[in-house]
Amino acid sequence: MTSVTSLFAPVEADLCQMTENLKQLVGARHPILYAAAEHLFGAGGKRVRPAIVLLTSKATMPEAEILPTHRRLAEITEMIHTASLVHDDVVDEADLRRGVPTVHASFGNRIAVLAGDFLFAQSSWYLANLNNLEVVKLLSQVIMDLAEGEIQQGLNRFDTSLSIDEYLEKSYYKTASLIANSCKAAGVLSNVSDEMAMHLYSYGRHLGLAFQIVDDLFDFTSSMDALGKPAGSDMQSGILTAPVLYALEEKPYLEGLIEREFAQEGDLEQAIALVLDSKGLERSRQLAEQHAQLAVDHLADLPSSESRQALINLADYVLSRGH
Ligand code: IPE
Ligand code: IPE
Ligand code: MG
Ligand code: MG
Repeated sequence: MTSVTSLFAPVEADLCQMTENLKQLVGARHPILYAAAEHLFGAGGKRVRPAIVLLTSKATMPEAEILPTHRRLAEITEMIHTASLVHDDVVDEADLRRGVPTVHASFGNRIAVLAGDFLFAQSSWYLANLNNLEVVKLLSQVIMDLAEGEIQQGLNRFDTSLSIDEYLEKSYYKTASLIANSCKAAGVLSNVSDEMAMHLYSYGRHLGLAFQIVDDLFDFTSSMDALGKPAGSDMQSGILTAPVLYALEEKPYLEGLIEREFAQEGDLEQAIALVLDSKGLERSRQLAEQHAQLAVDHLADLPSSESRQALINLADYVLSRGH
C-alpha cells in the first residue's frame, strides 16, 4: 500500500510548513484555541486536502514556484476541514479524533462549538484576503455545502427509502465539495483555462466521493481499534451509507430492524450480519472504484509532471488506505 508520506513527496516540505503556519494562525489569539490548535494540527491528520491543493498548484504551473496565495489556500482548506470535524464530533458525540480526545471531550461542547465557529470565521477572513472573488465564491459555497450535508444526513436518519443518488448528493455536500472546489480554486490561482478549471473540479468531486464511500466501508470492515468507534456505529445512529442501501435491496428483514431503530436486543448485531452477508460491501467498493477512475480521467489534459502523477496515485491511495 502506498503511504501518504511518499505520495505527498513533491510537496512534503510545503505541508510541514503549512502545519506550523496553521498552529500560529489559529493559536495566536487565545490559550484555549492554542491548545485546540496544537492538538488539532499536531501529527494526526492525513492532510489530504492541502496536499491536493499544493499538488494541483504545482501540476498547473510546472515551471514556476508555488505561489504564496496557493499556500494560503492550502491552509484555508485544512482550516475549513478541521472546523467541520470539530462541529461533526459535537453532533456525533465522538470522543476521539486523530488519535487524541476531541475538542468537545477535552473542553466541553460550548467551547467546541465556539472553536469550530472561530475556525470557520478565521478561514473566511483569510479567504477574503486572497483578493480573488472567484476563489472566495468557490470556498464560501463549500462552507454552505458542509452545513447542508450535515443537515441532510440528520434529517434522513433511519430512512430506509433513501436512494443511492441521495446518498451521493449528501456525500458531495459533506466531503466532495471541499475537495472539488479547493482543487478548482488552486487552478484559478494558477490562471488555468475555464475548461481545465472544470476538469480540476471534477477530479476533486469524484475523488471526494470515492474517499467518502471508502470511509463508509470502514464502518463495517475495520476494527474498533482502527476506528476509535465500534463497528456499525454509523448505522446504529441511523446513517445509512452505501453498504446498507445496497444490502436493503437484498435483505428485506434489514428494513424492519432499521425502522425500529435497533430497539430490541441483538437487532444491531443482526443488522450488521445481514449487511456483511450481502453484496453491499462489494458493490460499494465497485462504486468507489468507478469514482476513483473517473477522477483520474479528468487529469488527462494536465501536462505530465511528478505532481500530476501524485494526483493520479492519490486515487489508488484513496481505495487502499487503511483508515
Ligand atoms: C474525515 O476526513 C472526514 C471524512 C470526510 C470522512 P479525513 O479522513 O481526511 O480526516 P483527517 O484530516 O485525516 O483527520
Ligand atoms: C466527518 O463526517 C465530517 C464531514 C465530512 C463534514 P463523519 O461523521 O461521516 O466522519 P467521521 O467518522 O467522524 O470522521
Ligand atoms: Mg463523525
Ligand atoms: Mg458525522
